[in-house]
Amino acid sequence: MNYQDILSKKSQAIKPSGIRKFFDIAAGVPDIISLSVGEPDFKTPWLVRQEAIQTLRQGKTTYTSNAGLVPLRQAAAEYFKRTIDTEYDPNTEIVVTVGGSEAIDIAIRALINPEQGEEVIVPEPCFVSYSPIVELTGGVPVPACTREEDKFKLTPEILKSLITPKTKVLIMSYPNNPTGAVMRRDELESIAQILRDTNIIVISDEIYSELSYGEPHVSIAQLDGMRERTIVVNGFSKAFAMTGWRLGFTAAPAPVTEQLLKIHQYAIMCSPTVSQYAAVTALTDEAVLEEVREMAQEYNQRRQLVLDGLKKIGLSCFTPEGAFYVFPCIKKTGLTSQEFCTRLIKEKSVAVVPGDAFGDCGEGYIRISYAYSTKHLNTAIERIGEFLKEI
Ligand SMILES: Cc1ncc(COP(=O)(O)O)c(C=O)c1O
Repeated sequence: MNYQDILSKKSQAIKPSGIRKFFDIAAGVPDIISLSVGEPDFKTPWLVRQEAIQTLRQGKTTYTSNAGLVPLRQAAAEYFKRTIDTEYDPNTEIVVTVGGSEAIDIAIRALINPEQGEEVIVPEPCFVSYSPIVELTGGVPVPACTREEDKFKLTPEILKSLITPKTKVLIMSYPNNPTGAVMRRDELESIAQILRDTNIIVISDEIYSELSYGEPHVSIAQLDGMRERTIVVNGFSKAFAMTGWRLGFTAAPAPVTEQLLKIHQYAIMCSPTVSQYAAVTALTDEAVLEEVREMAQEYNQRRQLVLDGLKKIGLSCFTPEGAFYVFPCIKKTGLTSQEFCTRLIKEKSVAVVPGDAFGDCGEGYIRISYAYSTKHLNTAIERIGEFLKEI
């Protein structure tokens, strides 16, 4: 069989994730300290797990409605009202998805007309899935390179310079993976001002919204005139420590949600039922929400610990204000990000992710996840310090 001829050209053209590559290399190294995966080290709050056990005991193992359990959609609508002061109708404007990942996928697929060269502006460095999904859908990703001197925020100047008649979508992803950058209300407002005169739709990936360490998170959807042109993506993986439950959601105007739901219906049918019941508890139980706040506080302390540690070993690092990553600059070592990370694994058994895994403009940086124990973090920083001295 000549698989090259048989398989989709688009699928063959996309590259596997650069994060997984380093994770896999790390898995084979003894005594490795891996700070490469963006996954909480906390267990899912016990009350949420208990609800899942109870759901199974009661034999609730069938499909749910395509859009998700009504109580979960209601809880999601209340969550959006509470956190980003934006109202969504749980019956027509929310879809429960298989993680933020599926939400991003269906959002892009619902917007892009393949083969018309429609452009999607993707501020980079960013989460790895946006551009490959745009390509698979037949759209054209247009990287918007954000810079350390702008605190890795999307600026109105950069955005304006990239808008063309073919621009269809802008992806906003704040708090950001991998930089930890956030965008404040006035900064979002300067982006919204440009978008209001256009037909551009925003996909706002707010999966780290609960992990904002300065001012509370603001969504671009809550600014004047923006709700109607924004698909908000959120989920349970990060703040609720629920990566394996595979649950997220979209919030978008009814005509958009109608399309999202059709794609979700045919691709997925419905999100995992047990996870959905458990997620109702996650969003509504005050004790769980308190635990979520405590986890966020713990990440914040680790953020400080890592920033202090990096300063001590002489690695300059922009101060992130969200998510659970730091993105130090390694340009002064003269090594590329790939060289730095490969040698760090081989010589010091520490795995971090090269910045270019998040887009070309991440070159010269590395991503360190601090969703690990302080013991792990301290040892890793010590080893990175030794590595810097030796090279
Ligand atoms: C910015 C961002 N969005 C979305 C996701 C997807 O998360 P999940 O599919 O587990 O909800 C991730 C995961 O790392 C992420 O960093």
